[in-house]
Amino acid sequence: MTDRLAFGGGGAVAPPDPWDPVVRLTHWAVVAAVVTNYLVVKPGGAVHVWVGWALMAVLALRFLWGLAGPREARFSAFPPDPRATLSHLADMARGRARDYPSHNPAGAMMVYALWVLLVVVALTGLVMTGGQSPVTIAEEKAAVAAGDWSVLVKEDAGDHDEDDRSDIPEEIHEVAANLIVLLALLHVAGVAVESRLLRRSLLRPMIRGSRSS
Ligand code: HEM
Ligand code: HEM
Repeated sequence: MTDRLAFGGGGAVAPPDPWDPVVRLTHWAVVAAVVTNYLVVKPGGAVHVWVGWALMAVLALRFLWGLAGPREARFSAFPPDPRATLSHLADMARGRARDYPSHNPAGAMMVYALWVLLVVVALTGLVMTGGQSPVTIAEEKAAVAAGDWSVLVKEDAGDHDEDDRSDIPEEIHEVAANLIVLLALLHVAGVAVESRLLRRSLLRPMIRGSRSS
């Protein structure tokens, strides 16, 4: 906690303005993927799976950045800290807020919750598609369209319990997707409240920066 507030070399403590390009790019790419897959394209369709794979690449990049990126983008700059989260929320309820060099403790908890759910959605998506890449899925569809149904005969095709079992990842996928949307709404509300209390936009540094302009 003291470390977190101290980093910045003892000068004014504030999050980056703007956030570095990788944080900004990956944030808005994740938002675009969630909106596209939740609201726009057919669930489970080819575009849905392509977007899902793009999401996995973006998340992988952000997680690497969390280990090797600039200091404020690293996981160590915003560790999950339930006590600090509660005290931050209590401060907010009293109309007070203060700056942190990275995500504030409540924001950090939200970020980790969203990341965990995004990983759950990706893993269950992979289970449902048997880990096949969108390219393989497209090739199989093209083969079926050309009349070759043999590509759909899998080694375990005789296993009749499969239908029951395959419902579980689908249920988890759906619940996680709904939770992501719910938490994202709370996240946006949190950004709005925090911006109001701090009297500056948290959004602008996530777009291109310089809150002084
Ligand atoms: C941005 C992240 C994603 C979101 C928000 C999302 C959301 C959804 C939703 C809401 C459904 C409908 C569930 C239902 O009504 O049963 C669905 C279905 C599906 N998703 Fe995703 N998804 C995401 C990522 C992925 C990924 C990464 C994959 C695959 C690699 C995937 C594969 C599928 C499949 C195959 C279905 C069809 C399930 C079925 O009805 O048989 N999704 N998704
Ligand atoms: C599906 C919707 C969304 C998801 C999954 C999401 C997820 C995230 C994540 C994971 C971070 C951490 C960024 C990082 O360190 O890489 C973050 C930060 C942030 N997001 Fe979102 N976000 C969503 C929608 C939005 C929207 C619509 C806005 C616009 C109001 C927004 C504004 C922000 C801001 C301003 C931050 C930085 C907060 C801070 O200063 O600590 N997000 N979001």
